[in-house]
Formats: sequence, C-alpha cells, structure tokens
Amino acid sequence: MPISAADEVKVRPETLLDVADFAVGYRTSTVVENITIGVGRAELVAVIGPNGSGKSTLLKGLTGRAKVFAGHVNLDGDDVTAMRGDRLCRRGLGFVPQTKDVFGTLSVEENLKMGGYLLDRKAVDEQIENVYELFPALKLMSTRTASRLSGGERKMLAMGRVLMLSPKLLLLDEPTAGLSPDLARHLLHEQVPNLVASGVSVLLVEQKALDALRIADYGYVLVSGHVQLEGTGASLLARPDIREVFLGSAAADELPPAALEST
Ligand SMILES: Nc1ncnc2c1ncn2[C@@H]1O[C@H](COP(=O)(O)OP(=O)(O)OP(=O)(O)O)[C@@H](O)[C@H]1O
Ligand SMILES: [Mg+2]
Repeated sequence: MPISAADEVKVRPETLLDVADFAVGYRTSTVVENITIGVGRAELVAVIGPNGSGKSTLLKGLTGRAKVFAGHVNLDGDDVTAMRGDRLCRRGLGFVPQTKDVFGTLSVEENLKMGGYLLDRKAVDEQIENVYELFPALKLMSTRTASRLSGGERKMLAMGRVLMLSPKLLLLDEPTAGLSPDLARHLLHEQVPNLVASGVSVLLVEQKALDALRIADYGYVLVSGHVQLEGTGASLLARPDIREVFLGSAAADELPPAALEST
C-alpha cells in the first residue's frame, strides 16, 4: 500500500485522468502493478523513481504501446483503457515520448502541420499561431529542418506538435533527457509550468526528480513497478528518504543552480 507523505491536507482539483489498479508489461509478464494514480484539471503531477522502475512502461500502458494486464484508465469520463494513438488524440490525450518525438526530415512548420492532422486547414493555421505564441523561438526557425535543431529546440517542437490538437492532458516522458542544464531548467521551471497555467494537465515522468517535485502539485514515487509513496510535491521534497533511499545520488537527479551572469 502506498504511504501518504502528506500530513497537510491539500484539496486536489477535479480528476481528469483516473488510473485504477493498473498493471502493464510486455508479452507474458507485468512490469508495473497495482498502479492507482490520478491527474486533476490543470494539475502538474510528477512520477519519479529509479531507472528501470517502470515509469516509461506506465506511460506506454496509458498510450496503447505496452500490454495492459489489469485495471482501468478513465479520461474525462471516457474509458480509454488500452486505447491507441489517434483515438486517444481525439479524446484529448497528448504524448511526447522520450525519443522519436519529431519528424527529422520535415521542417518545424511541417512538423506542426503533421501534429494538426485531425484539424481542417484554417484550424491548423490558427493552432500553429497559438504554438508560436507559446514557443516564440519556433516561429523564428519555422522553415528549418527538424534534424538541425538543438536538443532544446527539438523538445519544444515535440511539445508544440502534440499541442496542435489542444490536449487536455499531456504526458511527458523525461523531457529534459539530453538537454543542457540551462535548457532543462528553462523547460521544467518555465515552459511546463506555463502550459499548466494555460489550463493543460501534465503527467511528467522525470529523472531530475527533485526539480520535478519542486514544480509538481502532486507526485508519485515508483519503485520496482509499484507506487511506494505519494503526496504533494512539497511534502515529498521535505522527506529526507526521498533523496537517500529512492533516488540515489542527489547530484545526478538535481539541476545545478543557475549560473551567475558574468559581467
Ligand atoms: N519492450 C520491452 N520489452 C520487455 N521488457 C521491457 C521493455 N521495455 C522495458 N522493459 C523492462 O521493463 C522494466 C522497466 O523499464 P522502463 O523503461 O519502464 O523503466 P523506467 O522507469 O522508464 O527507466 P528509466 O528511468 O531508465 O527510463 C525494465 O526492467 C525493462 O528492462
Ligand atoms: Mg524511462
């Protein structure tokens, strides 16, 4: 049974994603089991845990990319258990995978158009403008081929592409992987919170666990395929065992402080 880390009472927003007794794995064996988690409206929820604990498998189970053995997933009142790709998109779920997140041979704008594949032409143009408003840097490189973007630009494009369909819920699998500390900090401490402020719910899987908890409204700690601990981001951060027991070396899981500007 998960232990609640929160002594304080915090009212969570109305549930958007409700995952109950979920078990996911590959072929004949489960990797994660008894997963009961939720994401509220415009809530930022982090899932953290050691390498191999099943974080990506959980997200794959939610997006029809791994085998669901048990449980239910409900998105905004719809049963979406084991539902796949475009059907999930239509119901408002967007997924940014850790890799293979953009079409490298297409330009920035072509990638965004691909992301809007369910929309008519006028709506595509409108949504592209919305994405450019959110990520102005993308507008400046709209004709650049995606394979020539930096890691941070590419991740921005991957998020923009998924945002084309105005998802209610965005699943992010380690969005800072491969980014420099500055870009990772910008993504976690500005771009993701800005998205949540705009009304999108986010389920964030992140290696930079301490940073993830700092921005999260609520967090779940996954260990060996089970939720070991849950609570508000602040209450989990306050626990000394989070650093020591669950996350190993703090240095590997925390961004260094922002560099002081040189004069
Ligand atoms: N396609 C697959 N087929 C079989 N087993 C897999 C597959 N993908 C992952 N696994 C196994 O599932 C377990 C959990 O892997 P998963 O990728 O979900 O962990 P993770 O928490 O995302 O780890 P990381 O932090 O390294 O990304 C591991 O033991 C892994 O070997
Ligand atoms: Mg993973």
